[in-house]
Amino acid sequence: MQTPAPGTLRILHLSDTHLTGDGALHQGTVDTTAALHALLEHLDTVPGTGLVVISGDVSEDGSPESYETVRRTVGDWAERHGAAFVTVPGNHDQRAGFRQVLVDGHVLGEGGQPLVHTMEHHDPSVPVRGQSLVAGRRIVTVDTSVPGAGYGELSEPALEHLRAALAEPSEHGSVVVLHHPPLPAPTALHDALKLRNPEDLADVLRGTDVRVVLGGHYHHHFAGSIAGVPVLVAPGVANDNDVAGAYDQETALVGTGALVVDLAADGSLWSTPVRLPRPDADEQALHLDAEAAARIAAAFGPA
Ligand SMILES: [Fe+2]
Repeated sequence: MQTPAPGTLRILHLSDTHLTGDGALHQGTVDTTAALHALLEHLDTVPGTGLVVISGDVSEDGSPESYETVRRTVGDWAERHGAAFVTVPGNHDQRAGFRQVLVDGHVLGEGGQPLVHTMEHHDPSVPVRGQSLVAGRRIVTVDTSVPGAGYGELSEPALEHLRAALAEPSEHGSVVVLHHPPLPAPTALHDALKLRNPEDLADVLRGTDVRVVLGGHYHHHFAGSIAGVPVLVAPGVANDNDVAGAYDQETALVGTGALVVDLAADGSLWSTPVRLPRPDADEQALHLDAEAAARIAAAFGPA
């Protein structure tokens, strides 16, 4: 992949890792820890990543062990790449276990440096909230989870956190990270589990310096916008929803991917979906070595 242009913040956007503390398979079929390892290994050659984000459902069971796994695997990848690491709870996460290991979700700061946190006790009814600065961008995490429920909601304390964080513009704008995306759901099940008050989010975002909202939850990549702000939904690490099927049915396929999101100095945004190839299923259709690719580029590109 190309190196990002100077001044660009490259974000590796992962979502829905659904890690288990005891190694249990997700939905009885997928070893999510192995899937995460394989995906990170595949992404190891992506250059210039400044921030790694996991937009919720980090854990399947809410256990501290599952959060230790993500702290170690994604934390090590981010440190090695000199990238910050930020995450936020989803509906499968449990705030107590999340906070015990990941505190407010802002795990590593700019350059992959560990962030120093004072451990505060919060009741699990209090949403996890955080913000940090990466390459002049303010990264704000908002907890849309509702304890014991699958749907999402922005509570008044979560909205107030967002309002306060966005009150003054940042040098190069802001990025909002949340789990339940403020976009329509592709299936009946996901419709029942969607964010219930996207209009409240729109009211807070309107007129702010937010350049993009990063979400997950649907285990399928799609893009939209809210209040004129782009919304990107990352594919799931755990599996890939087949949204083309009947509206009232739910099908997920074995498959893992991520987004590589580039946020340029002037606020322009590009997102590149990356899929982990499956050697058992994916046959190579084309491979050009560097010499062959250069020959074709010289023949058919501009003189
Ligand atoms: Fe979810």
